[in-house]
Amino acid sequence: MAQCTAVIDIGSNSMRMAVFQKTSRFAFHILHEVKSSVRISENAYKNKGHLQNEAMERTAQAIGEFLSIAHSFDARKILCVATSALRDAPNASTFLSQIRAKHNLSIKVISGEKEAYFGGMACANLLPAISKAITVDVGGGSTEFTVLQNGKVEQLFSLNIGTVRIKELFFDRDDSAGAINYIDEMLKQLPNFEVNTLIGIGGTFRALSRSLMKKEEYPLKKLHAFTTDESSFLRFTNQILNASPKKLRSLFIKPDRFDTIKPGALILERILKHTQAKTLISSGVGVREGVFLSDLLRNAGDKFPSNYNPSVRYLLDTYSIHSDHAQQCAHLSKRLFELLQTSLEIDSKYKFELVIAAKLLSIGVGVRYYAHSRHSHYLAMSALDYALSHPQIALISHLLLFKKGNNASDLIPKGSYGSLLPDNATLDALSAILRLSHILLASRVNASTLTLSKDRDGVIVIEGKHLYLAREQLKNIILPKGLKISLNS
Ligand code: LMR
Ligand code: MG
Repeated sequence: MAQCTAVIDIGSNSMRMAVFQKTSRFAFHILHEVKSSVRISENAYKNKGHLQNEAMERTAQAIGEFLSIAHSFDARKILCVATSALRDAPNASTFLSQIRAKHNLSIKVISGEKEAYFGGMACANLLPAISKAITVDVGGGSTEFTVLQNGKVEQLFSLNIGTVRIKELFFDRDDSAGAINYIDEMLKQLPNFEVNTLIGIGGTFRALSRSLMKKEEYPLKKLHAFTTDESSFLRFTNQILNASPKKLRSLFIKPDRFDTIKPGALILERILKHTQAKTLISSGVGVREGVFLSDLLRNAGDKFPSNYNPSVRYLLDTYSIHSDHAQQCAHLSKRLFELLQTSLEIDSKYKFELVIAAKLLSIGVGVRYYAHSRHSHYLAMSALDYALSHPQIALISHLLLFKKGNNASDLIPKGSYGSLLPDNATLDALSAILRLSHILLASRVNASTLTLSKDRDGVIVIEGKHLYLAREQLKNIILPKGLKISLNS
């Protein structure tokens, strides 16, 4: 098996491990994830931060099992970080030496700023680019903030606000006024961010977003990069804050979060009030991805090369059989797009999605040649995750579907991701360009041997030596109205 890295994050509420596998220099995917709700900070807050024996024992047991999983994957590296609970604990060293002695594992207790950096850096690399945003990672003991600007982490903050901390210090005493007061006082330490976009990281934000998506019957089953607005989110946190346990269940909250989801909802509500961000983006990535990427990108300035997409590269590494053809198809699609964009009235931004779709056009062959367009569609829909918005993922994946004699807009599955796609005319035009490129390369010629031009009457003239099959296959696709093609050998 190719090299794997396991990353363990001992959060104050839950502990998680992800096993990452590289598929080429910078591309990777997750082979396994495991979570345990050990809650190492349990009863610590009432005891000046001292970790309690039971909580330490539970955590030690779970660590042992996590390590056995990591070893089963032959993980070459095991990186383990611990956050707020261990930072605070006067008896942290007892726990750390126990784990070292018993499991030969060194746990790195990271500072609040370092924790903020890992989360922010993961978002900067793995979410679609935003010119300015703040990331907020609500944990069990603390909350981390970063300011992201033009793809870089600019500022770091860590405050002792966390779901378990607020539960134990205030909610267990029915003191929600005290909780609000405590949170608001803490938030005064933050500067005025003046940002429109807030990125939510961590278990609490994910749990809330997941429930909101289910409640609103959101058409994509993807949490990472799910976007909503402040008012829908606040309406939802308000419902959570007033819900009975039965109601929490019907709002799709899992039982292991029943006692921390309300403190979590309150923390987020106060933060939103403080920041006044209007757009909220959920991040599926956080500290673990940050730790992994810091290692992967250590010689690249903690940044992927420009125009590099790790999800696209992962799909190509894993499924592409005919990668030269994919590359040729991408080149030709780009040239055709540039030639046709104005007459077909397509927004120039869609060149980006078109080129990715062209590269991924035949990945389905890696599953099975027959019905490969369906397989390509499914693979893209499922594995495109990073650095793409949901509308981009829906469009790229949809463009991979093809049925003879149908427009792309005829193939939109009912009750599904259709609302995320561009208008039908744009969709059909993009699909026609993609199919045209594919057909023009039917005899597997090099795209550079084809010349493209537009004659006086607006007919697209394509010249090349081997266009016999292309001429035949051209009948299988529907061209946008007004588009005339002439193939000259
Ligand atoms: C943490 O403390 O960061 C995590 O345990 C968060 C959570 O809610 O699971
Ligand atoms: Mg955390």
